Amino acid sequence: MPAQSHRSDPRILGRRTLQRDHRCLAALLRPGLWVLDIGCGTGAITAGVAKAVGPQGRVLGIDRDQVLLELARTEHAPIPNLQFEYGDVTTLTPRAQFDIVNAARTLQWIAEPALAISKMKQAAKPSGVLVVLDYNHTSNDWEPDPPGEFKLFYNAFLAWRSTNRWDNEMADHLPDLFQSAGLVDVKSQAHDEVVGRRDLDFTERAALWLEVIENVGGQLAAAGFCTKSELNAARECYESWVKTALLKQTLAMRAVMGIVP
Ligand SMILES: C[S@@+](CC[C@H](N)C(=O)[O-])C[C@H]1O[C@@H](n2cnc3c(N)ncnc32)[C@H](O)[C@@H]1O
Repeated sequence: MPAQSHRSDPRILGRRTLQRDHRCLAALLRPGLWVLDIGCGTGAITAGVAKAVGPQGRVLGIDRDQVLLELARTEHAPIPNLQFEYGDVTTLTPRAQFDIVNAARTLQWIAEPALAISKMKQAAKPSGVLVVLDYNHTSNDWEPDPPGEFKLFYNAFLAWRSTNRWDNEMADHLPDLFQSAGLVDVKSQAHDEVVGRRDLDFTERAALWLEVIENVGGQLAAAGFCTKSELNAARECYESWVKTALLKQTLAMRAVMGIVP
């Protein structure tokens, strides 16, 4: 992996599903479609896409992380219309092959999102659809307000991302990027990830930020955005706050779609 990179946590990626975590893409799928999934990670959503397009369809998942790709291949090898390939979207070979080209939660980690979108466009057939689902990290919301120790971590996380030129408001900037790339009929819809204390999977999903602290905390500390003791304090406070106080977490997201003319 390049120096300014990070590995997404396979625990978080592996529990996602097409139906719950990418409803907008799920609604576009039909038997027989060819779909390219950029930044497929462990392939959890990609496998759902392969099932939805059926044996006449074809799905290719691409990722620049070999470790995640190996997990994807091991987990989803028995699905015959599904393949995983190593690739970086910013250097993708033009294919003009796919009915739908998707990137979920991926452009947020790319310093050149305009280049990524132009490569995605080249991978789609004329009249094909581009779908990008992404976060607005500055608009996330917790009820009640999280403990100061966690907020300190979260601000360090945003500052670390900005320094790496990863857009903390990626979702809001997608429609302009789509228009500039020459996509037409561009639509943007809210797609927040909301979890509340009454949800059966509350504990698992609210643990996301513990996993993020564990996963990228070392990088933040090494780069001077926080100290190891601040990380420990954030982890401990957040863990007990989730158990006792957190009622609702809203991660602000948008799904943006556009057509290749
Ligand atoms: C947060 S994960 C999202 C995984 C999955 N799409 C989902 O929604 O759960 C982002 C993925 O994008 C991949 N990624 C980041 N930059 C990439 C690039 N330039 N080209 C291809 N994949 C990339 C990462 O390796 C990671 O697997």
